[in-house]
Amino acid sequence: MRTIAVIARKGGSGKSTVAVHLALAAHLRGRRVLVADTDAQRSASQVLRGRGEGGPELVESTGPKLFALQLAALRGEVELMIVDTPAVVEEEIGHAIVAADLCLLVIRPTFLDIAASLQTAEIVRRLRKPGLVVLNQAPSSRGGVEAPSVKRAQEALKLLRLPVIPTILRARISYQAALEAGRSAEELDPATEAAREIGDLWDFVEGFLFGRPAAAPSQAPQVRTNTA
Ligand SMILES: Nc1ncnc2c1ncn2[C@@H]1O[C@H](COP(=O)(O)OP(=O)(O)OP(=O)(O)O)[C@@H](O)[C@H]1O
Ligand SMILES: [Mg+2]
Repeated sequence: MRTIAVIARKGGSGKSTVAVHLALAAHLRGRRVLVADTDAQRSASQVLRGRGEGGPELVESTGPKLFALQLAALRGEVELMIVDTPAVVEEEIGHAIVAADLCLLVIRPTFLDIAASLQTAEIVRRLRKPGLVVLNQAPSSRGGVEAPSVKRAQEALKLLRLPVIPTILRARISYQAALEAGRSAEELDPATEAAREIGDLWDFVEGFLFGRPAAAPSQAPQVRTNTA
């Protein structure tokens, strides 16, 4: 069982969007997934409760309960636990980092977002936790050329001294439309750029955590998998 803590000190960077999309990506590819929602806003819970069909298991929790939840998840043969965290409650973020096999920092390509992440990245490094950064809500590139804001962000992110995932999540309405429907962008329309981004992000995270794709094939054949 592996645990991902999805963290960022800046509100609205996309933690819940990324947490839910990764959980659904893993679920669609046949992995047993548990989402632990430790944010009192309960954004991830609202999305997953909006599903009319099966999906990841969901527990509304708090940081101090994560260890007990991990034990229960192990007993229940959960393969992946994804912890969605609040932006501002430091204690909750701390518990999630301690519980994590991977800390995923979700950062928008802005000066203030990156500045707010410096301390979090330092904590992740001091605790010797594996950490990765994913850029979210980035403007799209034009003709293969990155927007200046993204290029500046890529330079500034070097100061975090954590690896940056090559897949960049762009600002796309399909992410919002998907969550409104209780689904992921991959489920809503696998032909969209958002679906491709999430597939690529999942492939990277899965390789990092498990080093291999899920044993069971996808139960949603229209979703691209790296087992195909
Ligand atoms: N890549 C994206 N493209 C378009 N909209 C996005 C994207 N990522 C997130 N959003 C939107 O940005 C808003 C904030 O996203 P989200 O709730 O996931 O952030 P958060 O970091 O969890 O926020 P909070 O700090 O309040 O928990 C939401 O309206 C969401 O739909
Ligand atoms: Mg959130």
